[in-house]
Amino acid sequence: MGTIRELKKIPLSVRIRQQENSGEEENLMDKFVIRGGNPLVGNIRISGAKNAALPAMAAAILTEEPVILENIPDVRDIQTERKLLVSMGAEVELGYGRASHRTTISCRNLSSPEAAYEVVKTMRASTLVLGPLVARMGRARVSLPGGCAIGARPIDLHIKGLEKLGATITQEHGYIEAAAERLRGGLISFDKITVTGTEDLMMAATLAEGETVMENCAREPEVADLAALLNKMGANIEGAGTSIIRIMGVSKLHGARHRIIPDRIEAGTFLIAGALTGGDITLTSCDPAHLGALLHKLEECGVTVQPGTDTLRITNGHRLHAADLTTEEYPGFPTDMQAQYMTLATQAEGTSVVTENIFENRFMHAQELVRMGANIKVDGRRAVVHGFTPLSAAAVQCSDLRASASLVIAALVADGETIIDRVYHIDRGYERIEEKLRGVGAQIKRIGEILPKRTAAPVGAA
Ligand code: EPU
Repeated sequence: MGTIRELKKIPLSVRIRQQENSGEEENLMDKFVIRGGNPLVGNIRISGAKNAALPAMAAAILTEEPVILENIPDVRDIQTERKLLVSMGAEVELGYGRASHRTTISCRNLSSPEAAYEVVKTMRASTLVLGPLVARMGRARVSLPGGCAIGARPIDLHIKGLEKLGATITQEHGYIEAAAERLRGGLISFDKITVTGTEDLMMAATLAEGETVMENCAREPEVADLAALLNKMGANIEGAGTSIIRIMGVSKLHGARHRIIPDRIEAGTFLIAGALTGGDITLTSCDPAHLGALLHKLEECGVTVQPGTDTLRITNGHRLHAADLTTEEYPGFPTDMQAQYMTLATQAEGTSVVTENIFENRFMHAQELVRMGANIKVDGRRAVVHGFTPLSAAAVQCSDLRASASLVIAALVADGETIIDRVYHIDRGYERIEEKLRGVGAQIKRIGEILPKRTAAPVGAA
C-alpha cells in the first residue's frame, strides 16, 4: 500500500500520449508466413490473461485512487481499453522496459462516462465499463456492440441486471444510457451464464447500497481474479468462482495493487501446438489448475502432459486418437479452445464430433482448415472432423482471435509455406505469438505490406 500512497503524490502523466495511435494501424496488413514440419522444443513463458486484465482495468473506474495492475499482457485489446479509459478522462500509464507488463490507472477525474461506438465495435469487452461507470459516476452512455464474427452476443443480461440494481436504462441512437443516484443491492438471477455480464454486475454491486446476491454466475477463473482485485480495493465479495456470488455494497473503494492470473487460453493453444508437432514444450508461469478440461481431453487423445506447480510439460511422439468435444462454461471445455482443438482433431485417427454450445457461429476456421486439406463437415452447432488428413500449406485468412490461433497451429504441421492473412485478429489476444513460437523452433515470420506505401509523387513527375 505504501507504493500507492507514494503514487498518489505524483500526478500521473499520460506519458504515452504521443504513442496514441502508433502501432495501431501499422500492422493491419501483417501476415504470417509459416513453414511447417518442425517439432517444437523448449520453454514458453505464458503471459497474463487478456480476459482477466480487461475487467481489472475497468474496475479502476470504481475508485479515485490509482490501481496498479501487474502481468498485463502486451496485446492490442489492452491498448484499446487504455484508449477507452483515456477518452473518459482517466490517466493510464503503461510501463516500459522491465515494467512493460505493469499499468497504473487513475480515474480521479472522469470527465466523460461514455464508451463510443468506434471503440465498442472493435472490442465488445468495452461494455465492461457500463456497471462501474453507473456505480461510481451515477450515469453511463455505452454503445450497443452489434453483431460479431462468432455470434449475436447481445448484452441484455447486463442491462436487466443493472435494472435489478435500480438503474434507469434508456436506449437511443444505438447507445444505452444508464442512470442511478446510487445503485441498491438486489437479487440477480442470470437466465444464461455470462462471463462479462457476471463481471460487469459484480463491479456495479460493490458500490450499491446493501446486499446483492447473483445466481447462475459464470465460474471462470477470470471472475474470481476480478473479485480478488475488488476485495483488495475494499469490496466485500464472497463466492466468486462459484455460481452464487454475494456482494455487500460499500460506499467507497480505494486503490490497490494486483497481479493478473496467467492466460489459460494462451497456455492451451501452445499445448495443442506441442501435441501436434510431436515436440517437447514446457510452459512456465501458467496455472495448470485452470486447464482441467483441456488436460483431460488431451489425455483422452493420447497426449502426455506433466503438470508442475506453475508449469506444464507436453511431449508427444505418436499418433493422436479422435475424441468428441462439447464446449461448456467453466469448468467445462472452453469455447475459446474449440478452434485449436479442431485443428488437433484433423490430425487424430478417427472421427471427432465437435459441438459448440456457447456461440452460434464459431466455426469460421473450419472452411480455412478444409482449404488446407482437412475433412470437416459443419452442420449448425456441430462439426464432424474426419482424421487423419495430412495438411498442406495454403493462403488462409483469420476471421477472429481463436480461429486465427487454429490456423497458426495447422500451419505448423502443414507441408509447405502457409500464408496467414489478417493476423491483427491474433494480435488482439496473443502476445508476440511469432516470437514465442520461434523461440521453440517454429519457422514463422511476420511480414508487412509487400509493396511500400506511396507517400509522395516521384521527383520530376508531372
Ligand atoms: N449472452 C446473452 N446475453 C448477454 C450476455 C451473453 O445472450 O447479455 C450470451 C452470448 O451471446 C453467448 C453466451 O451468452 O451465447 C455467453 O457469452 P458471455 O457473455 O459469457 O461471453 P462474453 O462475456 O462476451 C467472454 C470472453 C470470450 C469468451 C466468452 C465465453 C472476455 C472479455 N471475453 O465473452 O472471449 O469466448 O466469455 O467464455 O472475457 C476470446 O477471448 O477470444 C473471447 C471471445
